[in-house]
Amino acid sequence: MTTIGQPLDRVDGGVKTTGAAKFAAEHFYPGLTHAVMVHATISRGRITALHTDEASAVPGVIAVLTHRNAPPLKPAPKPGTFNFSMLFSGTSVNYLQTDEVHWEGQPIAVVVAETSAAAREAAGLVHAEYTVTKAVVDFDVAAKDARPQPNNSFFPQGAKRGDAEAALKAAAVSLDLRYSTPPHNHNALELHATVALWDGDRLTIHDATQSIDWFRTHLALRFGVPMTNVRVLAPFVGGAFGGKFAMWPGTILAALAARATSRPVRLVLSREAVYRTVGGRTPSVQRVALGADRDGRLTSLVHTSVTRNGRIGGNYEQVTGPAQHLYAAENILARHDRVELDLLSTTFMRAPGEAIGTFALESAIDELAYALGMDPIELRMRNETAVDPIDGKKKFSHRRLREMYALGAQRFGWQERNPEARATRDGRWLVGTGVATAFHPALTMPVNVAVRLSAGGSVLVRCGFHEMGMGAATAQAQITADALGVPFDAVHVEYGDSALPMGPAAASSLQTASIAASVIQACDELKRKLKAMARKTGGGSHEEILRRAKVPHVEAAVGSETRLGRIAGRARFLPGFLLGAQRWVKAASGVQFCEVRVDAETGETRVSRWVGVFDIGRVINAKTASSQLRGGIVMGLGMAMAEETLVDPRTGRIMNPSLAEYHVPVHADVPPIDVSFLNEPDPNMPLGILGAGEVGITGVAAAVANAVHHATGKRVRDLPITLDKLL
Ligand code: MOS
Repeated sequence: MTTIGQPLDRVDGGVKTTGAAKFAAEHFYPGLTHAVMVHATISRGRITALHTDEASAVPGVIAVLTHRNAPPLKPAPKPGTFNFSMLFSGTSVNYLQTDEVHWEGQPIAVVVAETSAAAREAAGLVHAEYTVTKAVVDFDVAAKDARPQPNNSFFPQGAKRGDAEAALKAAAVSLDLRYSTPPHNHNALELHATVALWDGDRLTIHDATQSIDWFRTHLALRFGVPMTNVRVLAPFVGGAFGGKFAMWPGTILAALAARATSRPVRLVLSREAVYRTVGGRTPSVQRVALGADRDGRLTSLVHTSVTRNGRIGGNYEQVTGPAQHLYAAENILARHDRVELDLLSTTFMRAPGEAIGTFALESAIDELAYALGMDPIELRMRNETAVDPIDGKKKFSHRRLREMYALGAQRFGWQERNPEARATRDGRWLVGTGVATAFHPALTMPVNVAVRLSAGGSVLVRCGFHEMGMGAATAQAQITADALGVPFDAVHVEYGDSALPMGPAAASSLQTASIAASVIQACDELKRKLKAMARKTGGGSHEEILRRAKVPHVEAAVGSETRLGRIAGRARFLPGFLLGAQRWVKAASGVQFCEVRVDAETGETRVSRWVGVFDIGRVINAKTASSQLRGGIVMGLGMAMAEETLVDPRTGRIMNPSLAEYHVPVHADVPPIDVSFLNEPDPNMPLGILGAGEVGITGVAAAVANAVHHATGKRVRDLPITLDKLL
């Protein structure tokens, strides 16, 4: 029996559709209180006075916590430190420990009350006075003085081959272009939420997190308790996309408030509070310069980017990653610069780096195709490469762009296109088509997992991984069922709890492959154990062997650690994360085909058709995998056409912190999306899996921009592509 590949329904589908699944905010404890944050209204400075009497007088208010009365926290790690007490954005601030303000929106007080209504009312009555320090908040101005991003093995500063600038000057055909993308904010359906409960020095946290282990490690560090005293539960997460990877103030402050009041505390962020206290995607300014001969062979490829961090920290983005791997240019220069502003730190958002990097790179390739009078797919094929263009030696573990372009062109009907821009019309609509390449690195991490086979025939898989809506548990049940030769329905998967053998963070599209490696290993061990038992008991089915051996179950485990933190700081983590990266370039990839219709009079743009073909290695579940890719494409449409966080360049205040003013695609914005896979296992990844979470968004904005250019003759190099830019 083979369940791998089948489009099976999700094992958690039933509890979610009936409402039985409990998300973080839905956990109730006797005496539960409600917390609401109060936000700073300056970008940088110090609090000189905090008036809390009025708030404290609201009936039902239990405490108004500020830096004057909050329990102590251990100092936060410094920004930029990369160690495994966690360390990305949001965690480097000493919340409610000092009078310092680092960004407009930083929590400066927390109100705890018997009801959420009382907490909200009281939070509105806290008044602060400040001394203001000069803040730098305007990205466009600061970007001119960007500095090289610090270098580390996870986030290299850049890469180089030959002399790209000289080759650019000497090229027969050349372009030197500037692109920009705005900041984006996270808008997962489920708001960030925490329920925190102390029992002496033991902390239980229900949190909407995609990284249980980081959360536990960081909370233990800040509250000065052993890691084993902190339990993090997150069995259901309603979307995360990178926004629930780092720890943001809501989680720390819920735990702090519970400590201060000796009561269980629930802290659910409002949508506005998500904008004010959870980082988003960096804005970027990018330069792509291309030099080619008349036949379209690239002689020079320059891709540089400026992105933004907070002065308090933030992640580095691999904006030029795709430019380092996609084209056989003789000379390449890739570089990441950044600025640090007095704004909330930026963070990961679906395909951080690659999502915005492919917009610029794949737009520029299209521009070069027009400059050469060449089909954009043909231009890409002339620059296809079998080895990593940077070192000229390393091979791709799996590279099938030729096949995907051929398949995509056929499914889309690319050949019927009139290549001339602004030449195809359907009544008032200008019709255009565009194409772009998708690319995202494939990674793995070490994972601890335990698999138990019971005499009754059921199988239990235990691993502290994350289910944020992508079908992770279903995929692992399929993998286990096939590995043990048992029915899919016999497998039950436990996840989302730090008391389980520690799994990976649900990030970098690495969960499925990483867990699969350990599940397979545990299942092999289990089969060896059963075989040994069979020799004594005399064979038969699994159940018969166990019954005759008179044992209720047999178990096998990979790794006994219930947490990753300790081993992660040691040798195992790094080789695991970069497994084989010295020998192979490993990546998921794809091709994105798009048709747009632009109203000739009003500039209204509708994306009318989409075809995506993806190489994600082996497909474990055709239904959940295509949902992941479709979701990535939809998110990419938001990036292409609508999403833009507006930061007031004078005050650093986010001006559109709501779904009414920050637009994400709705159903009416999403065309039929045709997703297909090559479904060919990668020879160097566990089970041949390359990861499907993030590759779907890459290339999307470029495909749209290229189609808009084809429709209208206008190049939009600054996202989002709103109608004012087309008039
Ligand atoms: Mo992702 S942006 O690694 O959740």
